Amino acid sequence: MVNKITDLAGYLEKYRQSVADPEGFWAEIAESYQWQKKWDKVLDWKFEGESAPDVNWFVNGKMNITENIFERNMSSRKDQVAIIWEPNDPKEPEIRLTYGELFDKVKQFANALLKLGVKKGDRVAIYLPMVPELAVAMLACARIGAIHSIVFAGFSASALADRIIDAEAKIVITSDGGFRGTKSIHLKNIVDEALANCPSVELSVVLKRTEEKVHWEEGRDVWWHEIIEGESTSNDAQAMDSEDILFILYTSGSTGKPKGVVHSTAGYMIFAEYTFKNVFQYNDGDMYWCTADIGWVTGHSYIVYGPLLTGATSIMFEGVPTWPDAGRFWDVVDKYKVTHFYTAPTAIRALIAQGDKWVVDHDLSSLKVLGTVGEPINEEAWRWYHDTIGKSRCPIVDTWWQTETGGIMISPLAGITPTKPSHATLPLPGIQPILVDPEGNELKGNSVEGILCIKFPWPGMLRTTYGDHKRCFNTYFSAFRGLYLTGDGAKRDEEGYYRIIGRIDDVINVSGHRIGTAEVEDAINQHPKVVESAVVGYPHEIKGSGIYAYVICEDLSDREMATIENEIRDTVNKFIGPIAKPDKIQIVSGLPKTRSGKIMRRILRKIGEGDASNLGDTSTLLDPGVVDEIISGAKVEVKR
Ligand code: PRX
Repeated sequence: MVNKITDLAGYLEKYRQSVADPEGFWAEIAESYQWQKKWDKVLDWKFEGESAPDVNWFVNGKMNITENIFERNMSSRKDQVAIIWEPNDPKEPEIRLTYGELFDKVKQFANALLKLGVKKGDRVAIYLPMVPELAVAMLACARIGAIHSIVFAGFSASALADRIIDAEAKIVITSDGGFRGTKSIHLKNIVDEALANCPSVELSVVLKRTEEKVHWEEGRDVWWHEIIEGESTSNDAQAMDSEDILFILYTSGSTGKPKGVVHSTAGYMIFAEYTFKNVFQYNDGDMYWCTADIGWVTGHSYIVYGPLLTGATSIMFEGVPTWPDAGRFWDVVDKYKVTHFYTAPTAIRALIAQGDKWVVDHDLSSLKVLGTVGEPINEEAWRWYHDTIGKSRCPIVDTWWQTETGGIMISPLAGITPTKPSHATLPLPGIQPILVDPEGNELKGNSVEGILCIKFPWPGMLRTTYGDHKRCFNTYFSAFRGLYLTGDGAKRDEEGYYRIIGRIDDVINVSGHRIGTAEVEDAINQHPKVVESAVVGYPHEIKGSGIYAYVICEDLSDREMATIENEIRDTVNKFIGPIAKPDKIQIVSGLPKTRSGKIMRRILRKIGEGDASNLGDTSTLLDPGVVDEIISGAKVEVKR
């Protein structure tokens, strides 16, 4: 396979080359793609100044990512399966789409979108369950140069509306509903509610999945099956500039509403494929399964784009790990003889808690490589994954990356880089991490711990935050001059291996989902009885981090007191979705604030962690008594 590293010496050599001559390194990789017009210059970049990031890869190149998935692979892979779809209910038949069949569906839907008036550069919001049409919809957008903005179908109407409004989407693609375990979720109702507040949306395309009755708005709603009827399967790909936007994906930060991370076309394409084939060491004939939802970046890069560009067979799973029983993942591995399995630590921990009996009666001998992503993996979970699932013969790739990075940044290459539990190990070729102290001084050498930044551009990096470039600069490039700030703390150990410690900002990873504490606070504060709230993460055995909310309410009667916690959870559910519901809610009379009115979150975090023995300097607190009151009423046992 082209551009694939095969041994440790090869990795070291490629890494060296990628730092010594980044442009030459990436240009060589880019040569293997189908370009309508070749680039004039490999890279133009600026990480400093308010226009930063100003990063252009493969300047003036013209291409289309779907030509590189389909046309480029068609002569050898027309009849090879591209996507296997495993439904929520194991009794329902699976769907297998070959590259040829998927290509036809993409072209047909692309033609239907064109007929609806969707043009290059238009934003298309996609709010679909994990069905094959989700991949078809995103690829059809890419085919015609429309910008997809996929919203995870677990978000509420209000969260969906926020994203549609920010992207000024012209059209929404959704379904009547979706299945997850025993639940059937009525997505169309959620979209209807959202669209009441989204003036930019002219049309919604509705796919039939659950066959539930839907409310229909004539003139706005059209059925997926009707618009593709009779539509041709020939379609020429739109010429895209290397830097034209491929997609927007909203993600949470420490302040304000989620921001639309913008990825452009050529750089993302090259990075997604390069990282996929090298990290997973995928070979022809392998069976790859990533359990993520396409609504998150992992699904974008490692269910759809990376695997399909490589010409892999990628499994898409509609269901949940614990239904009909906790052996569901291993049933699927056994059924399709999965060779590569990629999931999140939270899923691993949830399955550990169910006991090994769900694993032992499955044949997992097809597995060759295991992957993890989304949050730090604790050593116990790593060992169970390695020993019980991988039978101590499958390397684990602990892949560190972010929505903003587009693809994997620090990770072992499977079977090549020696692994170490809970360590993401070494940067991929082309990635130049650096650790700094809070003043921005570089921490050189090994055995150091600091703030993880990246000092040189890579092709898959975000280009801006949609509609607000200044926000992109402020969030990622203003803390330390000339460096991309990841928001994570990391250690570089005595061997030079990276271990990600976790977020250093007000972002928490709950079950591998990224949630901003400010967003949750905003949602809680919508409850009419709430005066103020402060949200922190706390260690949670399964989810990695749980959400702990300290809430000040107006006077509550005993009756109100009995129901307030559930009402607050419902409010968060309404404004964001179930993933952001606080695990613990403590009603307090005050919050620990400095004299200037700033909440000392450090104290709240410590209490949430159950350790108030060393709260640090509390001399600037306006009312130190508040801390004792919070400790006494804490929802966890607190060591004083
Ligand atoms: O804190 C890091 C954590 O997830 C954050 C990025 O979240 P998101 O943009 O939603 O993307 C998740 C999927 C790529 C990071 O800032 N994270 C991701 N992978 C790891 C990780 N933490 C530790 N180890 C990892 N392998």
